[in-house]
Amino acid sequence: MLVKLAVLFSGNGSNLENILNRLHQKTIGSNTYEVVLCLCNKKDAFGIQRAKKFGLESVIVDHKDYKSREEFDEILVQKIKESGADLAILAGFMRILSPIFTKNIKAINLHPSLLPLFKGANAIKESFESDMKVAGVSVHWVNEELDGGKIITQKAFEKKNLSFEDFEAKIHALEHEILPLSVIEIFESKVNLPK
Ligand code: GAR
Repeated sequence: MLVKLAVLFSGNGSNLENILNRLHQKTIGSNTYEVVLCLCNKKDAFGIQRAKKFGLESVIVDHKDYKSREEFDEILVQKIKESGADLAILAGFMRILSPIFTKNIKAINLHPSLLPLFKGANAIKESFESDMKVAGVSVHWVNEELDGGKIITQKAFEKKNLSFEDFEAKIHALEHEILPLSVIEIFESKVNLPK
């Protein structure tokens, strides 16, 4: 099957580039993957340059151009539907999504903590500063609850005495492992679709 992917991002875009490297126009198992949409809500995001290296122009939908979260989400839904994507991947997409999005789009989100711990925008710092001996990363289905949908994949590591820089680098390295793997597992039917 040809699997069409939409990737949504807001900034650096290292996970977008990793998806492009690992999945875009690649046949893995019984599926061929194609990133049909790179969508960003910030016109200066570095990820836009990363997508260009693959010949892909990002679609910019700036949330500041819309009066409400719902109006913004309606455009996101429209762009994703128009692209024909089978799955939307939130890879560092830093917007809270309304039911307009969550009820209409099948999406997964990457989050830099062991959910349900450290939800929200400061997960790396909060998990680094916590008393927990382990930290990790999660990929989960997107539902109406922020960082709250069913977990697809998690990977943990021991914090030991890592510096903040090494801790953050470890988080990103694990993200780069589990996000493409989660996508592959979904389409190889190794994980159940959410109800
Ligand atoms: C990643 O660490 C991702 O987990 C995080 O944003 C970063 C994006 O990095 N997402 C969240 O915190 C979502 N709540 P990238 O732009 O280099 O891919």
